[in-house]
Amino acid sequence: MILPNDLEDLLELDLFLDIQIGLGLFFPKFSLNQIKGVNYYLCCGYETIKSINMISQRIEAQLNEQVKSEAFSSQLYLAMASWAETQGFEGVAAFMYKHSEEERAHMLKLIKFVNERGGHAIVPALEAPTSKFDSLLPLFEELLSHEMEITNKINELVHATLEEKDYTTHNFLQWYVSEQIEEEALARTILDKLRLIGDDKGSGLYMFDRDITGITAKSANDATEGTV
Ligand code: FEO
Repeated sequence: MILPNDLEDLLELDLFLDIQIGLGLFFPKFSLNQIKGVNYYLCCGYETIKSINMISQRIEAQLNEQVKSEAFSSQLYLAMASWAETQGFEGVAAFMYKHSEEERAHMLKLIKFVNERGGHAIVPALEAPTSKFDSLLPLFEELLSHEMEITNKINELVHATLEEKDYTTHNFLQWYVSEQIEEEALARTILDKLRLIGDDKGSGLYMFDRDITGITAKSANDATEGTV
């Protein structure tokens, strides 16, 4: 809510200058204080309308935590890509580089949303991700485990928006809910294939690496009658 002391600052805004000039022209007998008084109530109304769509401090803080989680995901997958590249798994490296970019896009989407809603998205400091993996199986096990953690965080965030009655953020987060279903399904499909390869470390992994960019997972969201 605007206090009278803030009026001078607000009067610097074009919108409120226009209002003040307009009032002065139409009501030349009004004193400056009377005009400022009318402006004050107009400003209060403006701020009330603006505040209705602003995020609460709690949601802002949790969205900023999610910014950090998505940023860390991007770094983790970048580290996985780099390791795979050094091991000669070019297909896995390409897959993970792309995945890292996607996580960065998830982070940017959150940053823009927080700022659009009157909050301040904070670019976080990050811990270094794991840089070495024993083989592809533990790498993808870590990926799935990490995605499951992210899903839990998204679910907690969605729950908080309902408690705060913030339906705009709730609606925005539905995209992340769907995305998590797809990402977990894809990670499980990849792990199934790696377990099928089992001890066939030669040609099995060669073909896996060659084909990984073409692996897709059908999620329940994509299923339509007769195509499952
Ligand atoms: Fe953006 Fe894979 O979570």
